[in-house]
Amino acid sequence: MCSSEIQSPLDAEAIRADFPVLGREARPGVPLVYLDNAATSQKPRPVIEAIEHFYSHYNANVHRGIHALSEEATIAYEGARDKIAAFINASSRKEVIFTRGTTEGINLVASTWGRANIGPGDVILTTQMEHHSNLVPWQLLAQEKGAELRFIPATQEGELDLSGLDDLLDGPVKIVAVMHVSNVLGTINPIKQIIDKAHQAGAVVLIDGAQSVPHMPIDVQELGMDFLAFSGHKMLGPTGIGVLYGRRELLEEMPPYMGGGDMIRRVELSHSEWNELPWKFEAGTPNIAGGIGLGVAVEYLSRIGMEKILAHEQELTAYALERLSEVPGLKVYGPPAEKKCGVASFCIEGLHPHDMAQLLDAEGVAVRAGHHCAQPLHMVLGAPATTRASFYLYNLPGEVDALIEAIYKAKARFSL
Ligand code: ALA
Repeated sequence: MCSSEIQSPLDAEAIRADFPVLGREARPGVPLVYLDNAATSQKPRPVIEAIEHFYSHYNANVHRGIHALSEEATIAYEGARDKIAAFINASSRKEVIFTRGTTEGINLVASTWGRANIGPGDVILTTQMEHHSNLVPWQLLAQEKGAELRFIPATQEGELDLSGLDDLLDGPVKIVAVMHVSNVLGTINPIKQIIDKAHQAGAVVLIDGAQSVPHMPIDVQELGMDFLAFSGHKMLGPTGIGVLYGRRELLEEMPPYMGGGDMIRRVELSHSEWNELPWKFEAGTPNIAGGIGLGVAVEYLSRIGMEKILAHEQELTAYALERLSEVPGLKVYGPPAEKKCGVASFCIEGLHPHDMAQLLDAEGVAVRAGHHCAQPLHMVLGAPATTRASFYLYNLPGEVDALIEAIYKAKARFSL
């Protein structure tokens, strides 16, 4: 197949015009090929303009001020919450907690729900595939409480092995914490099956949606998870803003995370009463511009359509895997394209992934190399590090060609 034969449901060329960064060169005379979207996405003009507009026209603190600017800021910030609730089909805006990102969302659940519900001998079930942000908080909790950590194994092919799930769920399993899409391999995990089984076993389920919410339609009511954490900056929004979705009954019962202003209803010297949801979990002045920017980002994504974005990325990934498989000495990790979303990680014999990334950068191709905050998964794969290309709605088949060309040049430099 060649790049001109790719059928995409999107007009990625037109979309690119909305992203100022994509118009620049990596360095003078070298066009930029941005394939590091799993690390962070670029931002379209409407998001940049919304943030600029907030600071230029109505910058004020939210919820507190009885003046015009504060009212405008509160309406915009809380309006963003409504847009995000609709985007994931939450049954109530109270279920959408603004955080700094996925990591904070998971730590919030581990620290509040976890501390209140996990005791000695209880089991926390996660997987060998997780990003460190969905592993280390559970390690800390298990150490503090004397709980047991169990792991759904990952196969060398980069999928979860669910054959032993019933056994793993046997016993006092209180929470199952699983990533929806692997940040290293792009594997789309069968979370519906895991959620249903975990619920039958009486466990609650947290889904790390950092690499899925930006790339595919997500309906929290249909999937039925109890918690879903995701980050704004991977889905066209700003850094420092993210969301924890939680089922209302659970959030109502949970103790607060951080104490301070905004999260209280009434404070006396010896004790306090908590604010209602969602503010119970939002102490201090929030990232107002970030929330507003993320609201605009989800509007932008919805206008294009998440089904189309997923289909576009899967077309590109299939093409990338096909082209990569033609490169002598190159090994691609993870399952075939139809089980993946937007990621291709690889190694070339004789060339360290960091050297590869540096040589690709010399050709203007931006990728990430390393363990991608998933060291246990790399141990399973038998590779301490990989080079990762990751795609988004604005990437073009021609950029896959540029990646392949740059890989051949890198090989030639090392006489491979
Ligand atoms: N978690 C992000 C990644 O995988 C930063 O690159």
